Amino acid sequence: MKIAIVGTGYVGLVTATCLAEVGLNLICVDVDEAKIEKLKKGISPIYEPGLDDMLQRNIEKGRLTFTASLAEVMPEIDVLFSAVGTPPDEDGSADLQYVLDVAKTIGQHMKKYTLIITKSTVPVGTAKLVQDTVQKELDNRGAKIEFDIASNPEFLKEGDAISDFMKPDRIVCGVGSPRAQEILEKIYAPFVLNGHPVIFTDIASAEMIKYAANAMLATRISFMNDIANLCEIVGADVNMVRKGIGSDSRIGSKFLYAGVGYGGSCFPKDVKALIKTADHYGYSLEVLKSVEKVNDQQKIVLFDKLNNYYQGDLKGKRIAILGLAFKPNTDDMREAPALELIDKLTEAGATVYAYDPVAMEESQRRIGNKIHYGKDLYETLENADAMLLVTEWTEFRILDLNKVKFLMKKAVIFDGRNIYNDEEMKKNEIDYFCIGKRTK
Ligand SMILES: NC(=O)c1ccc[n+]([C@@H]2O[C@H](COP(=O)([O-])OP(=O)(O)OC[C@H]3O[C@@H](n4cnc5c(N)ncnc54)[C@H](O)[C@@H]3O)[C@@H](O)[C@H]2O)c1
Repeated sequence: MKIAIVGTGYVGLVTATCLAEVGLNLICVDVDEAKIEKLKKGISPIYEPGLDDMLQRNIEKGRLTFTASLAEVMPEIDVLFSAVGTPPDEDGSADLQYVLDVAKTIGQHMKKYTLIITKSTVPVGTAKLVQDTVQKELDNRGAKIEFDIASNPEFLKEGDAISDFMKPDRIVCGVGSPRAQEILEKIYAPFVLNGHPVIFTDIASAEMIKYAANAMLATRISFMNDIANLCEIVGADVNMVRKGIGSDSRIGSKFLYAGVGYGGSCFPKDVKALIKTADHYGYSLEVLKSVEKVNDQQKIVLFDKLNNYYQGDLKGKRIAILGLAFKPNTDDMREAPALELIDKLTEAGATVYAYDPVAMEESQRRIGNKIHYGKDLYETLENADAMLLVTEWTEFRILDLNKVKFLMKKAVIFDGRNIYNDEEMKKNEIDYFCIGKRTK
C-alpha cells in the first residue's frame, strides 16, 4: 500500500512519521521546496519533542521519502492523507484554497483507485467539495477511475504530538463506503492495540466532531477565565475553585486552568470558522461568540494589570516577557498571546525584552527586531521594570528570587499562568500578581 501525506506541517509530518514508525511506507509531499530539501536531510522544520529521532530512524529505514511534486507521485498512490493548512479567511471562515488545490492535482493525475482522506480541519460539506473537484478533473480528461473520500480529523496536541498520535484517546473516521472503512481499519489497527476505539461515522459528523471538540475546549478555557476575573473582584481564589469543581466527575479536572487566553493554530481559527458555518446557515452560536469575546479580553489581561500598576505610564519602561510560544514544548507562535501583549506594550512606549527556550527564531521571523531577545531567563530580567510570565515552560517554574530581585530594576511579577506561590513572593518582598486571585 503506497500512502502519500500531503502537507508536511505539524499534522502532516507527525502523521507521516508515526505511520512510518509502525512499518508503513510513506511519501511526504509539500509545495514548500525548502521544507522538502530540509526533510530529505532528516532535518525537521518544526520543533516537536521526540520527532527528530523518529524522523531520522524512518528515513534511514527507507520508509519515509519526500517530494515537492504531487503530480509526479500521484499515479502510484493508493491512499492519500491531505493535511494542508486551513487558515482563516478574511471573514473568519476556513480558507479551503489549499485543500481544493490538492483535490485538483489528485483529479488531474490519479491513475487507479485512491482513497482520499482529509486530515485538515475543514467545515462540514468540504468532503463533498473535494469529491466534486476530483470528479470534475477526471471528467475533464475523460478518465473513469473509482475513488473514495473520507474524513479523518486529527486531535494531536502540539508539544505532545507523537504520544497523542501513537496512543490516541480515539481515532475518528468519517466514511461513505465499506472499502474506505476497511482501508482505514487496516492503517490504524497498530494504534488502537491499547483498546481505544476507532470511531466510524458518516463524513459530515466526522467533520463536525473536530470543530465541536475544539469549541468545547475553548469554551472551558474562556469559562474559567471569566470565573477567574470574577474571583479577583469578589475575593475568591480560582485555583481553589478549579480543584473544587474539577473533582466533580461530571466536570473533570482538565482544561480548567485560568490564564492569558487560548492561542495557537487551532482554537482561535476553529472557533471562528464554526461561528461562520452556523451564521452561513442562519444560526447564531451565542455561546461561542461569547467564548471568543472573553478570550479577546483575556489576551490583554496582563497588559491591563501592568498598566494599572504603573498608572497608565509605560513609556520608557523595560518589560521582560518569559515565553513567546503559544504554549510550552512548541515553537508555534500562531495567535500566541505574547504577540498581542508585545503590540500593546510597544504601542504604549515600553521596550520589550523576551526569552523563550525554542520560539525565538520563530519570533524573529515574525516580528524581527521589534523586541530584544535575552540569552536566558535571568539575562532577560536585567534592569526590567516588570516581568510577565506568558508561557509556562518548565524551566521557568523555579525562580531564584534573590537573583530576580538583584537583577530587576523593580521586582514585580505578573504571572499569566499561576505557576508561582504568592506567599513566597510576599516573603521575598516581590510585588506579585496572578490570574483569578487578589494578591495585594
Ligand atoms: N497544528 C495542530 O496542532 C493541529 C491539530 C489538529 C488539526 N490541525 C489541522 O490540520 C491542518 C494542518 O495544520 P498544520 O498546523 O499542520 O499546518 P501547517 O501550516 O503547519 O502545515 C501545512 C503544510 O501544508 C503545505 N501545503 C499547502 N498547500 C499545499 C499543497 N497544495 N500541496 C502540498 N502541500 C501544501 C504547506 O506548505 C505547509 O507545510 C489544519 O487544517 C489544522 O487546523 C492542526
